[in-house]
Amino acid sequence: MLLATSLLSADFLHLEREIEWINRSETDWLHLDIMDGVFVPNLSFGFPVLKNVAAVSSKPLDAHLMIVEPQKFISEVRDLGVSLMTVHYEACLHLHSTLTKIRQAGMKAGVSLNPHTPVEILEDILPEADLVLIMSVNPGFGGQSFISQSLDKIRRLKAMIQRKGLSTLIEVDGGINLETGQQTIEAGADVLVAGNAIFKSPDPISIIRKMKQL
Ligand code: DX5
Ligand code: ZN
Repeated sequence: MLLATSLLSADFLHLEREIEWINRSETDWLHLDIMDGVFVPNLSFGFPVLKNVAAVSSKPLDAHLMIVEPQKFISEVRDLGVSLMTVHYEACLHLHSTLTKIRQAGMKAGVSLNPHTPVEILEDILPEADLVLIMSVNPGFGGQSFISQSLDKIRRLKAMIQRKGLSTLIEVDGGINLETGQQTIEAGADVLVAGNAIFKSPDPISIIRKMKQL
């Protein structure tokens, strides 16, 4: 499995220090939650901060855009050096076009689903996505509880991917700790995102190591 550490739960006053220990940890990706206060009821960080974060991160950048009209920012996200750009199904009127443009910009393309959105709506778009991000909380905030219905969504999505003979990755985001992480892996997830479980732990490096062993 792959682990993406979410910067949203970091100490924003000391981001450089936070990224330096993340670089030294066993985490696979650095997960960046970009919010606009419209698609989700919160704001996080924008390009001036992200440029500085990207400059010190040695981990691949996993950008999760919780914004309306994310297609407007594809080139800015690419210029940060992002490996994977994930947009929300619910925020894209022309999802096929947006995913295609993300790939044309040289990034992997991800599509994310809110908790209420069934995975079956991906039936015709799955070949255009390198990854599907299942939100296991309502997006906008770290530290929420895992919605257990997400496990059934992961199983149904895994079956759809296998039926189509694709290699699309399944990433799960929200309320992931050692227990829910184990459940999501068993259900078929490939990538876990974790924020609070890592940053609120007295020993974040060891939590990352334990998650990597799931
Ligand atoms: C929530 C974000 C998550 C968040 C997860 O909208 O997409 O990436 O950082 O935080 P935890 O792991 O604390 O639920
Ligand atoms: Zn996220």
